[in-house]
Amino acid sequence: MDITTKPPSDPELHDPTGRHVRVAFVGKGGSGKSTISGTFARLLARLVDDPVVALDSDPLPGMPYALGIGVDDDPIPAEAVVEGPDGGPRWIIDPAMTADEFIERHAAFGPDGVRYLQFGNLWGHVVALRQAQFAWSQVVRELDPQRWHLVGDLPGGTRQPMAGWAKYADVVCVVVEPTTKSLLSARRLLNLRRAEWRPLHLLVVANKVNGPDDVHRIADRLAVEVSAVVPHDARVLDGDRKGSAPLDSAPDGPFADAVTALVERVVGLYPRVQPSTEVTS
Ligand SMILES: Nc1ncnc2c1ncn2[C@@H]1O[C@H](COP(=O)(O)OP(=O)(O)O)[C@@H](O)[C@H]1O
Ligand SMILES: [Mg+2]
Repeated sequence: MDITTKPPSDPELHDPTGRHVRVAFVGKGGSGKSTISGTFARLLARLVDDPVVALDSDPLPGMPYALGIGVDDDPIPAEAVVEGPDGGPRWIIDPAMTADEFIERHAAFGPDGVRYLQFGNLWGHVVALRQAQFAWSQVVRELDPQRWHLVGDLPGGTRQPMAGWAKYADVVCVVVEPTTKSLLSARRLLNLRRAEWRPLHLLVVANKVNGPDDVHRIADRLAVEVSAVVPHDARVLDGDRKGSAPLDSAPDGPFADAVTALVERVVGLYPRVQPSTEVTS
């Protein structure tokens, strides 16, 4: 079972009955957030009709590799982000463009039709990072919630999640591997259930699992049930070493099967989202 939190104090924040999938992945660095979230985005895109945006707020991104995009260093043109109005945000996206158009024009293309938005890659220059962050946040806030499915990957640790970087998500998956350090991070991240911007659902995703003992250990240490179990899959790691995405290196292995089950689980939390009826060959 997942941890269903008390509804956030802001009733506008989450309304999963009316909108598309919004999920974010948090956890310790190395636990497998990028590997799982990138794979999740592609598998979700295969399942549903509307487009999926992979949202990467890690300045050292791993998600594009897991998507199979490789390095995303296509700079977004400087004119796409301009100074904001007096009294408003410091930087905004070009007012001639909606957030949807921003994604259409500037997000990278990945396999399975996934669009990829990385928040640090505007101009690829470090002094522009602030502008890039404002623009990224605005796009995420303003995207049409009934048109796009959002799958986010956060940097390792507690800092971004605790500062509200995952507040676009109704469902937050805490990825944890059965190591002491990863468990410690996960324990802290479960405090998200008390944050102002708490998600509606917090799911513990056990990764790199070698057997039932690992799952029990995680459940015991976190004092919660594990929502999804992703086995250790040697082909995923091998693929990573060769620069190949999990769905390309191990399309039918235990990893892909487990992430497929997680996608179905999350989609099941959204009563209005139906799997695509289109038959893909
Ligand atoms: N289930 C798994 N089986 C085998 N290797 C995995 C699995 N999940 C992740 N990995 C490997 O673990 C490493 C860290 O994964 P990554 O997704 O980059 O972590 P994070 O984004 O949390 O820092 C990568 O080399 C990845 O290939
Ligand atoms: Mg990562």
